[in-house]
Amino acid sequence: MEDMAGRRVLMCVCFLAMVAGALSCPELCFCLPGDKTVLCDSKGLTSLPNGIPESVTLLRVTNNNLTVLDPDVVRRLPNLLAFYVDDNQIRQLPNLLPGAANLNTLSIRGNYISSIPPAFLNESITLNRLYLSGNQLSRVPIDALRAVRETLTILDLSDNPVVVKPGDFSILINLKFLKLAGVSQTFLPEGTLNGLEALTYLDISMPNLRSIPKTELAGLRVLQELVAERTSISALSDGSFPRLPTVRRLKMDNSVKLRALNDRALSGLVNVETVTFRNSPLLSFIEEGAFSGLAAVRELDLRSCGLMALQDRTFLPVARTLEVLYLGRNPFSCDCRMKWFGRWLQQAVATYALDSEEIVCERASYPEALNSTVLNIPISNFSCVVPTVVDLTPTTTVLTGDSMELVCRADGLPDPVLVWNTPQGSFNATSFNLTATGVAATLYLGDISPDNDGNYTCIARSDQGKSQNSMTLTVLPQQIVGGAPSNSIVAVATLYCAVILAILVM
Ligand SMILES: *[C@@H]1O[C@H](CO)[C@@H](O)[C@H](O)[C@H]1NC(C)=O
Ligand SMILES: *[C@@H]1O[C@H](CO)[C@@H](O)[C@H](O)[C@H]1NC(C)=O
Ligand SMILES: *[C@@H]1O[C@H](CO)[C@@H](O)[C@H](O)[C@H]1NC(C)=O
Ligand SMILES: *[C@@H]1O[C@H](CO)[C@@H](O)[C@H](O)[C@H]1NC(C)=O
Ligand SMILES: *[C@@H]1O[C@H](CO)[C@@H](O)[C@H](O)[C@H]1NC(C)=O
Ligand SMILES: *[C@@H]1O[C@H](CO)[C@@H](O)[C@H](O)[C@H]1NC(C)=O
Ligand SMILES: *[C@@H]1O[C@H](CO)[C@@H](O)[C@H](O)[C@H]1NC(C)=O
Repeated sequence: MEDMAGRRVLMCVCFLAMVAGALSCPELCFCLPGDKTVLCDSKGLTSLPNGIPESVTLLRVTNNNLTVLDPDVVRRLPNLLAFYVDDNQIRQLPNLLPGAANLNTLSIRGNYISSIPPAFLNESITLNRLYLSGNQLSRVPIDALRAVRETLTILDLSDNPVVVKPGDFSILINLKFLKLAGVSQTFLPEGTLNGLEALTYLDISMPNLRSIPKTELAGLRVLQELVAERTSISALSDGSFPRLPTVRRLKMDNSVKLRALNDRALSGLVNVETVTFRNSPLLSFIEEGAFSGLAAVRELDLRSCGLMALQDRTFLPVARTLEVLYLGRNPFSCDCRMKWFGRWLQQAVATYALDSEEIVCERASYPEALNSTVLNIPISNFSCVVPTVVDLTPTTTVLTGDSMELVCRADGLPDPVLVWNTPQGSFNATSFNLTATGVAATLYLGDISPDNDGNYTCIARSDQGKSQNSMTLTVLPQQIVGGAPSNSIVAVATLYCAVILAILVM
């Protein structure tokens, strides 16, 4: 009997404890058993909720409408290790984040913070990770970072209108991970990365960056991963990178301006293992020696770039170490220059992990080969086609003041380059309206004058040969119907002066 009563008391105590636990979770929030994790995401909260249990170690109040961080609420959370207030409307931080003696992670992404009070982190003496991306910071908050200079290992300043200055990070002696993505500077001033002795990960995906900050990176002696996506870098050549033998991973995806990888483009990264240039639509030229000087490449990602052709020995320098190769969704032209590629791919598919189903011919001389995977095309079908002008606007008569488009279409593989020779001079068609096995160039003549009268020749040229065809444009004066007043003659004279000749990119 006594035993039973004892058990009943115990059950009762347990029940009360559970009720107490349940009661201690703030309204609208979700608390995991034990009240160490409190989640209050997306509840339209305009301030930190009251009644957060003191035992909380992880508090998440993301995607709400907080405008401030109430220091009095934070003060009552002595066990807090991780605090997330991302995606709120916080404009101002308190002068001090009080009592955060054990705080390890602080995440304030996606708010409107323009400055951090100098003493804000003075009690967060163990802070390890600080996420500040997507705010309005105009400079690196050095004063505030001083308090955590020895403990901070991760700092994310991405997507702030920040201007980085020399020495900004020099106090962060243990920083391992630095993100500066979306920062609008065109370069990193000399000295910016000084002192980052422990840095292993750096993200400089800055949209206006025009070259790899060579001198800056040279001092990063333990860097392992370099990310430079969405930059304005247009080419990489020998010497673009400093010698960085510790770097294992280079990510340059979405390099929207990148056109060329020249010889020894990555040669400073002697031990790089993973290299990615995915989704770089203008990347159409990879010089034969682009990957020379690399001793450890295991994975190469060139998916969704602008590659029409590759050269024979491109992958030779990395052949021994390569394991994974992505080449899919490039506009390959399966012409005679790519015969080697057809052959090589048949062996490569047995040697490397390849996305071979996605490696297709966008241009080919046989219609059956179009959109077909390269592996399915007989080697003898990789053939070139001598250029031929197949379509040209016929000889025509026009009236002054009219406008007109002259169209020239040519077949050929590889794509011929088209040039218009006109009475006004020569014009390169800078971009083409691609057809299955050829190109087109349209010449737009606006406000036609007697100067436009004459012969127009369209020349199609490639390494396979040349073809041309001409037409004649005869310009007649505008008919003046029914005794038009003299101001129409003035108008015609004005039009004579405003000859506009341009090539329309189709
Ligand atoms: C939160 O802010 C958004 C945008 O300012 C607003 O549309 C929404 O009504 C606010 N919600 C609450 C609960 O205040
Ligand atoms: C905050 O800490 C810095 C140094 O870490 C110190 O210079 C400053 O006086 C402190 N501020 C306050 C209010 O304690
Ligand atoms: C290859 O060429 C032959 C003609 O020589 C043609 O019949 C065949 O359809 C072509 N196949 C492909 C996939 O291009
Ligand atoms: C090849 O694929 C492209 C894109 O998927 C498509 O627009 C085109 O019509 C296809 N061409 C042929 C000949 O199937
Ligand atoms: C056309 O382009 C070629 C090669 O890009 C160049 O050599 C030539 O000078 C250009 N001609 C004109 C008229 O711009
Ligand atoms: C235009 O082309 C025609 C026929 O090719 C030729 O007879 C004529 O001389 C050319 N005119 C000029 C101005 O070059
Ligand atoms: C090619 O040019 C024509 C005429 O300007 C235009 O209507 C058409 O959209 C263009 N096609 C492509 C694929 O750009």
